[in-house]
Amino acid sequence: MLDPYKIRQDFPILKRKINNHPLIYFDNAATTQKPKQVIEAIKEFYENHNANVHRAIHTLSQESSELYENAHEEVAKFINADGMKEVIFVRGTTEAINLVAYAWGLRNLESEDEVLVTLMEHHSNIVPWEMLSKIKGFKVKYAEVNDDGTLNYESLENAISHNTKIVCLSHVSNVTGVITDVKRVAKIAHEYGALVLVDGAQSVPHLPVDVKDLDIDFFAFSGHKMLGPTGIGALYGKRGILEGMEPFHGGGSMIKEVTFNTMTRECAISLNDLPWKFEAGTPNICGGIGLMAAVRYLNDIGMENVKEHEEILTEYTIRRMHECEKVKIYGPEDASLKCGILPFGVEGLSSHDVALFLDSYGIMIRSGFHCAQPLHEKFRLKSSARASFYIYNTREEIDRLIEALKEIER
Ligand SMILES: Cc1ncc(COP(=O)(O)O)c(C=O)c1O
Repeated sequence: MLDPYKIRQDFPILKRKINNHPLIYFDNAATTQKPKQVIEAIKEFYENHNANVHRAIHTLSQESSELYENAHEEVAKFINADGMKEVIFVRGTTEAINLVAYAWGLRNLESEDEVLVTLMEHHSNIVPWEMLSKIKGFKVKYAEVNDDGTLNYESLENAISHNTKIVCLSHVSNVTGVITDVKRVAKIAHEYGALVLVDGAQSVPHLPVDVKDLDIDFFAFSGHKMLGPTGIGALYGKRGILEGMEPFHGGGSMIKEVTFNTMTRECAISLNDLPWKFEAGTPNICGGIGLMAAVRYLNDIGMENVKEHEEILTEYTIRRMHECEKVKIYGPEDASLKCGILPFGVEGLSSHDVALFLDSYGIMIRSGFHCAQPLHEKFRLKSSARASFYIYNTREEIDRLIEALKEIER
Protein backbone atom coordinates (compact mmCIF):
# COMPACT_ATOMS: atom_id res chain seq x y z
CA MET A 1 0.00 0.00 0.00
CA LEU A 2 1.18 3.52 -0.66
CA ASP A 3 1.63 6.12 2.04
CA PRO A 4 -0.11 9.37 0.98
CA TYR A 5 1.42 11.29 3.90
CA LYS A 6 4.94 10.45 2.73
CA ILE A 7 4.01 11.21 -0.88
CA ARG A 8 2.56 14.60 0.09
CA GLN A 9 6.03 15.75 1.17
CA ASP A 10 7.04 15.73 -2.50
CA PHE A 11 4.27 18.13 -3.59
CA PRO A 12 5.11 21.73 -2.69
CA ILE A 13 1.69 23.08 -3.71
CA LEU A 14 -0.05 20.93 -1.08
CA LYS A 15 1.44 23.17 1.61
CA ARG A 16 -0.70 26.05 0.38
CA LYS A 17 -3.69 27.47 2.19
CA ILE A 18 -6.71 28.57 0.22
CA ASN A 19 -9.29 30.82 1.87
CA ASN A 20 -7.49 30.21 5.17
CA HIS A 21 -7.93 26.45 4.88
CA PRO A 22 -5.31 23.84 3.96
CA LEU A 23 -5.63 23.11 0.24
CA ILE A 24 -7.55 19.95 -0.57
CA TYR A 25 -7.08 19.12 -4.23
CA PHE A 26 -9.84 16.90 -5.59
CA ASP A 27 -9.66 17.96 -9.24
CA ASN A 28 -7.14 15.38 -10.34
CA ALA A 29 -9.11 14.21 -13.36
CA ALA A 30 -8.63 17.70 -14.82
CA THR A 31 -4.92 17.81 -14.03
CA THR A 32 -2.71 16.50 -11.27
CA GLN A 33 -0.23 18.38 -9.10
CA LYS A 34 3.51 17.98 -9.72
CA PRO A 35 6.07 16.42 -7.38
CA LYS A 36 9.38 18.16 -6.82
CA GLN A 37 11.10 15.36 -8.77
CA VAL A 38 9.27 16.50 -11.94
CA ILE A 39 9.83 20.19 -11.23
CA GLU A 40 13.54 19.48 -10.58
CA ALA A 41 13.93 17.44 -13.77
CA ILE A 42 12.65 20.38 -15.83
CA LYS A 43 14.86 22.84 -13.93
CA GLU A 44 17.89 20.58 -14.33
CA PHE A 45 17.28 20.32 -18.08
CA TYR A 46 17.12 24.09 -18.57
CA GLU A 47 20.03 24.77 -16.24
CA ASN A 48 22.39 22.15 -17.66
CA HIS A 49 21.37 20.52 -20.94
CA ASN A 50 19.15 22.85 -22.94
CA ALA A 51 19.65 22.59 -26.71
CA ASN A 52 17.49 21.60 -29.66
CA VAL A 53 17.23 17.88 -30.39
CA HIS A 54 18.30 15.86 -33.43
CA ARG A 55 19.95 18.79 -35.18
CA ALA A 56 23.36 19.81 -33.99
CA ILE A 57 26.49 17.74 -33.48
CA HIS A 58 27.55 19.63 -30.35
CA THR A 59 27.57 18.18 -26.83
CA LEU A 60 24.47 19.91 -25.50
CA SER A 61 22.38 18.79 -28.46
CA GLN A 62 23.67 15.22 -28.00
CA GLU A 63 22.68 15.36 -24.34
CA SER A 64 19.21 16.78 -24.91
CA SER A 65 18.58 14.32 -27.79
CA GLU A 66 19.57 11.40 -25.58
CA LEU A 67 17.32 12.60 -22.75
CA TYR A 68 14.41 13.12 -25.14
CA GLU A 69 14.87 9.65 -26.67
CA ASN A 70 15.15 8.06 -23.22
CA ALA A 71 11.86 9.72 -22.34
CA HIS A 72 10.19 7.96 -25.28
CA GLU A 73 11.72 4.65 -24.22
CA GLU A 74 10.58 4.96 -20.62
CA VAL A 75 7.06 5.98 -21.60
CA ALA A 76 6.96 3.02 -24.00
CA LYS A 77 8.01 0.66 -21.21
CA PHE A 78 5.40 2.15 -18.87
CA ILE A 79 2.57 1.00 -21.16
CA ASN A 80 4.44 -2.09 -22.43
CA ALA A 81 4.84 -0.82 -26.01
CA ASP A 82 7.60 -2.23 -28.21
CA GLY A 83 10.04 0.64 -27.74
CA MET A 84 10.07 4.26 -28.80
CA LYS A 85 9.13 3.62 -32.42
CA GLU A 86 5.60 3.01 -31.16
CA VAL A 87 5.40 6.17 -29.03
CA ILE A 88 4.84 9.60 -30.56
CA PHE A 89 5.05 12.60 -28.27
CA VAL A 90 2.19 15.05 -28.77
CA ARG A 91 0.64 17.86 -26.71
CA GLY A 92 -1.84 15.55 -25.03
CA THR A 93 -4.78 13.23 -25.56
CA THR A 94 -6.63 15.74 -27.73
CA GLU A 95 -3.75 16.11 -30.15
CA ALA A 96 -3.15 12.34 -30.19
CA ILE A 97 -6.76 11.66 -31.24
CA ASN A 98 -6.65 14.43 -33.85
CA LEU A 99 -3.43 12.89 -35.16
CA VAL A 100 -5.20 9.58 -35.72
CA ALA A 101 -8.22 11.33 -37.25
CA TYR A 102 -6.19 13.36 -39.73
CA ALA A 103 -3.16 11.16 -40.38
CA TRP A 104 -5.08 7.88 -40.55
CA GLY A 105 -8.77 8.83 -40.93
CA LEU A 106 -8.40 11.39 -43.70
CA ARG A 107 -6.75 8.81 -45.95
CA ASN A 108 -8.58 5.66 -44.89
CA LEU A 109 -12.20 6.64 -44.31
CA GLU A 110 -14.70 6.95 -47.15
CA SER A 111 -18.36 7.94 -47.30
CA GLU A 112 -19.70 4.39 -46.93
CA ASP A 113 -17.61 3.80 -43.79
CA GLU A 114 -18.57 4.18 -40.14
CA VAL A 115 -16.73 5.33 -37.04
CA LEU A 116 -18.08 3.90 -33.80
CA VAL A 117 -17.70 5.90 -30.60
CA THR A 118 -19.54 5.64 -27.27
CA LEU A 119 -21.86 8.06 -25.52
CA MET A 120 -19.47 8.40 -22.60
CA GLU A 121 -16.65 9.97 -24.61
CA HIS A 122 -14.89 13.19 -23.73
CA HIS A 123 -15.50 15.78 -26.47
CA SER A 124 -11.94 15.18 -27.69
CA ASN A 125 -12.99 11.70 -28.83
CA ILE A 126 -16.20 12.93 -30.49
CA VAL A 127 -15.50 16.28 -32.11
CA PRO A 128 -12.52 15.24 -34.33
CA TRP A 129 -14.61 12.40 -35.77
CA GLU A 130 -17.68 14.59 -36.30
CA MET A 131 -15.47 17.24 -37.95
CA LEU A 132 -13.82 14.71 -40.23
CA SER A 133 -17.15 13.17 -41.15
CA LYS A 134 -18.17 16.57 -42.58
CA ILE A 135 -15.21 16.34 -44.97
CA LYS A 136 -15.33 12.64 -45.82
CA GLY A 137 -19.06 11.92 -45.50
CA PHE A 138 -18.79 8.84 -43.27
CA LYS A 139 -21.22 8.20 -40.40
CA VAL A 140 -20.35 8.49 -36.72
CA LYS A 141 -22.34 5.97 -34.66
CA TYR A 142 -22.74 6.03 -30.87
CA ALA A 143 -22.81 2.94 -28.65
CA GLU A 144 -25.14 3.27 -25.66
CA VAL A 145 -24.23 3.65 -22.02
CA ASN A 146 -26.25 1.91 -19.29
CA ASP A 147 -28.05 3.93 -16.62
CA ASP A 148 -25.23 3.28 -14.14
CA GLY A 149 -22.64 4.70 -16.54
CA THR A 150 -21.13 1.39 -17.69
CA LEU A 151 -20.76 0.69 -21.39
CA ASN A 152 -23.62 -1.24 -22.96
CA TYR A 153 -21.56 -3.89 -24.74
CA GLU A 154 -24.66 -5.29 -26.46
CA SER A 155 -25.38 -1.90 -28.02
CA LEU A 156 -21.76 -1.72 -29.19
CA GLU A 157 -22.03 -5.17 -30.76
CA ASN A 158 -25.30 -4.20 -32.43
CA ALA A 159 -23.80 -1.00 -33.80
CA ILE A 160 -20.65 -2.57 -35.22
CA SER A 161 -20.60 -3.88 -38.78
CA HIS A 162 -18.18 -4.57 -41.61
CA ASN A 163 -18.55 -0.86 -42.47
CA THR A 164 -17.00 0.07 -39.12
CA LYS A 165 -13.40 1.06 -39.74
CA ILE A 166 -12.46 2.26 -36.27
CA VAL A 167 -13.92 1.98 -32.77
CA CYS A 168 -12.96 4.89 -30.51
CA LEU A 169 -13.60 4.65 -26.79
CA SER A 170 -12.28 5.76 -23.46
CA HIS A 171 -10.64 3.28 -21.11
CA VAL A 172 -11.92 5.17 -18.05
CA SER A 173 -14.74 7.70 -18.16
CA ASN A 174 -13.71 11.14 -16.95
CA VAL A 175 -17.24 11.67 -15.60
CA THR A 176 -18.03 8.45 -13.74
CA GLY A 177 -14.59 6.84 -13.42
CA VAL A 178 -16.04 3.62 -14.87
CA ILE A 179 -13.41 1.27 -16.30
CA THR A 180 -14.38 -0.22 -19.66
CA ASP A 181 -13.22 -3.66 -20.73
CA VAL A 182 -11.35 -2.40 -23.80
CA LYS A 183 -9.78 -5.82 -24.36
CA ARG A 184 -13.26 -7.22 -24.90
CA VAL A 185 -14.13 -4.35 -27.26
CA ALA A 186 -10.86 -4.81 -29.19
CA LYS A 187 -11.67 -8.49 -29.73
CA ILE A 188 -15.11 -7.64 -31.12
CA ALA A 189 -13.77 -4.79 -33.29
CA HIS A 190 -10.96 -6.89 -34.74
CA GLU A 191 -13.42 -9.62 -35.72
CA TYR A 192 -15.00 -6.98 -38.00
CA GLY A 193 -11.61 -5.78 -39.26
CA ALA A 194 -11.95 -2.44 -37.44
CA LEU A 195 -9.12 -0.67 -35.64
CA VAL A 196 -9.41 0.35 -32.00
CA LEU A 197 -8.42 3.74 -30.61
CA VAL A 198 -8.47 3.98 -26.83
CA ASP A 199 -8.53 7.29 -24.98
CA GLY A 200 -6.35 6.51 -21.98
CA ALA A 201 -6.36 10.01 -20.45
CA GLN A 202 -7.98 8.70 -17.26
CA SER A 203 -6.50 5.20 -17.19
CA VAL A 204 -2.71 5.52 -17.61
CA PRO A 205 -2.43 7.76 -14.52
CA HIS A 206 -4.53 5.47 -12.33
CA LEU A 207 -4.05 1.79 -13.19
CA PRO A 208 -1.50 -0.54 -14.79
CA VAL A 209 -1.81 -0.45 -18.60
CA ASP A 210 -0.40 -3.03 -20.99
CA VAL A 211 -1.19 -2.10 -24.59
CA LYS A 212 -0.03 -5.50 -25.85
CA ASP A 213 -2.32 -7.38 -23.52
CA LEU A 214 -5.24 -5.08 -24.42
CA ASP A 215 -4.41 -5.63 -28.11
CA ILE A 216 -5.47 -2.13 -29.09
CA ASP A 217 -4.20 -0.27 -32.16
CA PHE A 218 -3.93 3.30 -30.86
CA PHE A 219 -3.74 4.60 -27.32
CA ALA A 220 -3.79 8.29 -26.36
CA PHE A 221 -2.90 9.94 -23.05
CA SER A 222 -1.79 13.20 -21.43
CA GLY A 223 1.28 13.80 -19.24
CA HIS A 224 -0.33 16.48 -17.08
CA LYS A 225 -2.91 14.04 -15.70
CA MET A 226 -0.15 11.73 -14.43
CA LEU A 227 2.13 14.17 -12.53
CA GLY A 228 3.90 15.43 -15.68
CA PRO A 229 3.88 18.93 -17.16
CA THR A 230 1.19 20.35 -19.42
CA GLY A 231 1.74 20.35 -23.18
CA ILE A 232 3.09 16.80 -23.40
CA GLY A 233 1.36 13.48 -23.97
CA ALA A 234 1.71 10.44 -26.14
CA LEU A 235 0.10 8.48 -28.89
CA TYR A 236 0.90 4.79 -28.93
CA GLY A 237 0.33 3.01 -32.22
CA LYS A 238 1.12 -0.53 -33.34
CA ARG A 239 4.30 -0.22 -35.31
CA GLY A 240 2.96 -1.76 -38.54
CA ILE A 241 0.03 0.66 -38.56
CA LEU A 242 2.19 3.72 -37.83
CA GLU A 243 4.63 2.67 -40.55
CA GLY A 244 1.81 2.56 -43.09
CA MET A 245 0.56 6.04 -42.15
CA GLU A 246 1.47 9.40 -43.63
CA PRO A 247 2.34 12.23 -41.22
CA PHE A 248 -0.16 14.78 -39.96
CA HIS A 249 2.22 17.77 -39.74
CA GLY A 250 5.01 18.60 -42.17
CA GLY A 251 8.21 20.46 -41.37
CA GLY A 252 11.65 19.96 -39.88
CA SER A 253 12.63 16.74 -38.06
CA MET A 254 9.94 14.60 -39.67
CA ILE A 255 11.86 14.27 -42.95
CA LYS A 256 15.13 12.62 -43.91
CA GLU A 257 15.65 14.67 -47.05
CA VAL A 258 13.99 17.40 -49.04
CA THR A 259 15.72 17.41 -52.40
CA PHE A 260 15.17 19.94 -55.15
CA ASN A 261 15.82 19.07 -58.77
CA THR A 262 17.02 22.30 -60.37
CA MET A 263 16.26 20.92 -63.86
CA THR A 264 12.66 19.79 -63.32
CA ARG A 265 12.13 22.30 -60.46
CA GLU A 266 10.45 19.57 -58.46
CA CYS A 267 10.86 18.85 -54.81
CA ALA A 268 11.09 15.30 -53.39
CA ILE A 269 10.59 14.43 -49.75
CA SER A 270 11.67 11.31 -47.88
CA LEU A 271 10.17 10.72 -44.46
CA ASN A 272 12.07 10.16 -41.24
CA ASP A 273 11.83 6.95 -39.19
CA LEU A 274 9.32 6.38 -36.40
CA PRO A 275 8.47 8.11 -34.16
CA TRP A 276 10.06 11.29 -35.56
CA LYS A 277 8.02 11.19 -38.78
CA PHE A 278 5.06 12.30 -36.65
CA GLU A 279 6.95 14.88 -34.56
CA ALA A 280 7.42 17.82 -36.91
CA GLY A 281 9.28 20.91 -35.69
CA THR A 282 11.01 21.51 -32.39
CA PRO A 283 9.21 19.27 -29.90
CA ASN A 284 8.34 19.92 -26.27
CA ILE A 285 11.72 18.63 -25.10
CA CYS A 286 11.51 19.62 -21.44
CA GLY A 287 7.91 18.36 -21.39
CA GLY A 288 9.14 14.93 -22.48
CA ILE A 289 11.83 14.98 -19.81
CA GLY A 290 9.29 16.05 -17.18
CA LEU A 291 7.03 13.22 -18.28
CA MET A 292 9.92 10.75 -17.91
CA ALA A 293 10.40 11.96 -14.32
CA ALA A 294 6.67 11.49 -13.69
CA VAL A 295 6.78 7.94 -15.06
CA ARG A 296 9.75 7.14 -12.81
CA TYR A 297 7.87 8.53 -9.82
CA LEU A 298 4.80 6.40 -10.59
CA ASN A 299 6.97 3.33 -11.21
CA ASP A 300 8.53 3.77 -7.77
CA ILE A 301 5.08 3.75 -6.18
CA GLY A 302 3.73 0.94 -8.38
CA MET A 303 0.57 1.32 -10.43
CA GLU A 304 -1.19 -1.52 -8.60
CA ASN A 305 -0.73 0.52 -5.40
CA VAL A 306 -2.08 3.66 -7.10
CA LYS A 307 -5.19 1.78 -8.17
CA GLU A 308 -5.69 0.23 -4.74
CA HIS A 309 -5.30 3.57 -2.95
CA GLU A 310 -7.91 5.24 -5.18
CA GLU A 311 -10.31 2.34 -4.74
CA ILE A 312 -10.04 2.63 -0.95
CA LEU A 313 -10.63 6.40 -1.07
CA THR A 314 -13.56 6.07 -3.47
CA GLU A 315 -15.19 3.34 -1.41
CA TYR A 316 -14.76 5.45 1.74
CA THR A 317 -16.19 8.59 0.08
CA ILE A 318 -19.24 6.74 -1.23
CA ARG A 319 -19.87 5.26 2.21
CA ARG A 320 -19.56 8.63 3.94
CA MET A 321 -21.59 10.48 1.32
CA HIS A 322 -24.54 8.31 2.29
CA GLU A 323 -24.57 10.25 5.58
CA CYS A 324 -25.59 13.32 3.57
CA GLU A 325 -29.32 13.35 2.89
CA LYS A 326 -29.25 15.75 -0.04
CA VAL A 327 -26.19 14.41 -1.81
CA LYS A 328 -26.81 12.12 -4.75
CA ILE A 329 -24.01 10.01 -6.20
CA TYR A 330 -24.10 9.46 -9.95
CA GLY A 331 -22.80 6.32 -11.63
CA PRO A 332 -22.00 2.96 -10.05
CA GLU A 333 -21.31 2.78 -6.33
CA ASP A 334 -19.10 -0.27 -6.54
CA ALA A 335 -15.61 1.26 -6.20
CA SER A 336 -13.95 -1.80 -7.76
CA LEU A 337 -15.57 -0.89 -11.13
CA LYS A 338 -14.01 2.54 -11.06
CA CYS A 339 -10.96 4.72 -10.81
CA GLY A 340 -11.05 7.50 -8.21
CA ILE A 341 -13.60 9.74 -9.91
CA LEU A 342 -16.87 10.47 -8.17
CA PRO A 343 -19.63 12.60 -9.71
CA PHE A 344 -22.39 13.84 -7.43
CA GLY A 345 -25.04 16.49 -6.98
CA VAL A 346 -26.59 18.34 -4.02
CA GLU A 347 -30.37 18.62 -4.17
CA GLY A 348 -31.51 22.14 -5.04
CA LEU A 349 -28.06 23.48 -5.92
CA SER A 350 -26.19 23.82 -9.19
CA SER A 351 -22.83 22.08 -9.42
CA HIS A 352 -21.12 25.49 -9.64
CA ASP A 353 -22.74 26.56 -6.35
CA VAL A 354 -21.45 23.38 -4.72
CA ALA A 355 -17.94 23.91 -6.13
CA LEU A 356 -17.87 27.56 -5.02
CA PHE A 357 -18.97 26.68 -1.52
CA LEU A 358 -16.35 23.95 -1.26
CA ASP A 359 -13.73 26.37 -2.57
CA SER A 360 -14.47 28.64 0.37
CA TYR A 361 -13.32 25.68 2.52
CA GLY A 362 -10.15 25.23 0.45
CA ILE A 363 -11.58 22.18 -1.36
CA MET A 364 -11.07 22.13 -5.14
CA ILE A 365 -13.53 20.06 -7.16
CA ARG A 366 -14.75 20.32 -10.74
CA SER A 367 -18.25 21.41 -11.74
CA GLY A 368 -19.98 21.54 -15.11
CA PHE A 369 -20.23 18.80 -17.70
CA HIS A 370 -16.51 17.99 -17.81
CA CYS A 371 -16.30 18.12 -21.63
CA ALA A 372 -18.73 15.18 -21.79
CA GLN A 373 -22.06 16.82 -22.57
CA PRO A 374 -23.65 13.84 -24.40
CA LEU A 375 -23.22 11.67 -21.28
CA HIS A 376 -24.82 14.36 -19.11
CA GLU A 377 -27.71 14.59 -21.57
CA LYS A 378 -28.10 10.82 -21.40
CA PHE A 379 -28.32 11.11 -17.57
CA ARG A 380 -30.68 14.11 -17.95
CA LEU A 381 -28.26 16.23 -15.96
CA LYS A 382 -27.40 19.84 -16.70
CA SER A 383 -24.09 19.35 -14.92
CA SER A 384 -22.43 17.50 -12.07
CA ALA A 385 -19.97 18.13 -9.29
CA ARG A 386 -16.93 15.85 -9.52
CA ALA A 387 -14.38 14.88 -6.88
CA SER A 388 -11.39 13.02 -8.28
CA PHE A 389 -8.58 11.54 -6.22
CA TYR A 390 -4.90 10.78 -6.57
CA ILE A 391 -1.93 9.40 -4.70
CA TYR A 392 -1.59 12.33 -2.29
CA ASN A 393 -5.22 12.40 -1.12
CA THR A 394 -6.14 11.10 2.32
CA ARG A 395 -9.18 9.94 4.29
CA GLU A 396 -8.89 13.04 6.47
CA GLU A 397 -9.39 15.18 3.38
CA ILE A 398 -12.49 13.18 2.53
CA ASP A 399 -13.76 13.71 6.08
CA ARG A 400 -13.41 17.45 5.51
CA LEU A 401 -15.31 17.17 2.23
CA ILE A 402 -18.14 15.37 4.00
CA GLU A 403 -18.20 17.97 6.79
CA ALA A 404 -18.39 20.73 4.17
CA LEU A 405 -21.20 18.93 2.32
CA LYS A 406 -23.13 18.61 5.60
CA GLU A 407 -22.58 22.33 6.12
CA ILE A 408 -24.03 22.98 2.64
CA GLU A 409 -27.05 20.87 3.54
CA ARG A 410 -27.56 22.86 6.74
C1 LIG B 1 -11.15 11.00 -20.90
C2 LIG B 1 -10.45 12.23 -21.41
N1 LIG B 1 -10.11 12.30 -22.69
C3 LIG B 1 -9.46 13.36 -23.20
C4 LIG B 1 -9.14 14.44 -22.42
C5 LIG B 1 -8.41 15.58 -23.03
O1 LIG B 1 -7.12 15.66 -22.50
P1 LIG B 1 -6.17 16.88 -22.86
O2 LIG B 1 -6.96 18.13 -22.56
O3 LIG B 1 -4.99 16.70 -21.97
O4 LIG B 1 -5.83 16.78 -24.31
C6 LIG B 1 -9.49 14.43 -21.08
C7 LIG B 1 -9.23 15.60 -20.22
O5 LIG B 1 -9.91 15.89 -19.27
C8 LIG B 1 -10.15 13.30 -20.55
O6 LIG B 1 -10.51 13.23 -19.26
